[in-house]
Amino acid sequence: MTRKHLLSSADLSRDEVEAILDTAASMHDVQRREVKKIPTLRGRTVINLFFEDSTRTRSSFEIAGKWMSADTINITGKGSSTSKGESLRDTVKTICAMAVDALVIRHSASGACHQVAQWVDASVINAGDGTHEHPTQALLDAYTLRQRLGSLDGRHIVIVGDLAHSRVFRSNVITLGRLGARVTVVAPPTLMPSGIGDWSARDGFATSWDLDQTLYAASPGDRPDAVMMLRVQRERMSGGFFPTEREYTAGYGLTRERLTRLYAATPDLPILHPGPMNRGLEISAEAADATSSAILDQVSAGVAVRMAVLYHLLAGETEAAA
Ligand code: NCD
Repeated sequence: MTRKHLLSSADLSRDEVEAILDTAASMHDVQRREVKKIPTLRGRTVINLFFEDSTRTRSSFEIAGKWMSADTINITGKGSSTSKGESLRDTVKTICAMAVDALVIRHSASGACHQVAQWVDASVINAGDGTHEHPTQALLDAYTLRQRLGSLDGRHIVIVGDLAHSRVFRSNVITLGRLGARVTVVAPPTLMPSGIGDWSARDGFATSWDLDQTLYAASPGDRPDAVMMLRVQRERMSGGFFPTEREYTAGYGLTRERLTRLYAATPDLPILHPGPMNRGLEISAEAADATSSAILDQVSAGVAVRMAVLYHLLAGETEAAA
């Protein structure tokens, strides 16, 4: 696979997704060793440039780079010269003048990473751009689901929550679709992105406003093989998207009652959430901590998948993975 940037999930063919997930599986083995270090990216420099808050994505990119022996540096919007008014273009050109190999970027503006890729020679990896995309999250979700379910061909994945503001959902429908999964997305009408009808027809996923009908479909073949809950992204909301939190939870939360009913049919149903969670709002503590919860597996997969992405973009096929 010879690819310079990872900007959108749509960049990756099914073969490329599978190649990254297979590499991630061998990287996961490295993660289980006592000494977690391989020389693959020795002498390469990876900058994590985060203009939005992050716990999982930023630290996992940093760990991934370090375990592969790259030099990794973190820059955040607040501590950098952007807070003195420097433009994004000047910031990235300045960083790249230091001869870095890759820029991992998170930015509040949709399309920021595509723009940066045109300004710099380094590889650019999208770590979340506004409400647009988050391709490495979709890869780690696919990895986690494959670990739990095996092949995703024909599997039914239900994604529930604040779709209007979710880059995770946008990347996931593409990547899961590439792997042959059937996806249904569920949200209240006010949190459905506008134009989703055309888009679901193009990318082949289903939409619903009715969570219970989707979770407890009459035909067993239509019931979910996994459920992914998404965070209510208050920081991206300017107005009232739902009357009260209690009503949101009643209609769209993975409550204890819903979990019990789901478990009656499928006791090992994988439950995913990209984090950070609003416990008690979109997901109950019982669901987050359930025995079939895959939420911490997602975090663990995040490091392996990001190692695999760095490997494919920076080391290509010329070096051994381990
Ligand atoms: C997601 C993000 O930042 O888009 N989180 C993450 O990367 N783990 C989802 C979210 O913030 O809700």
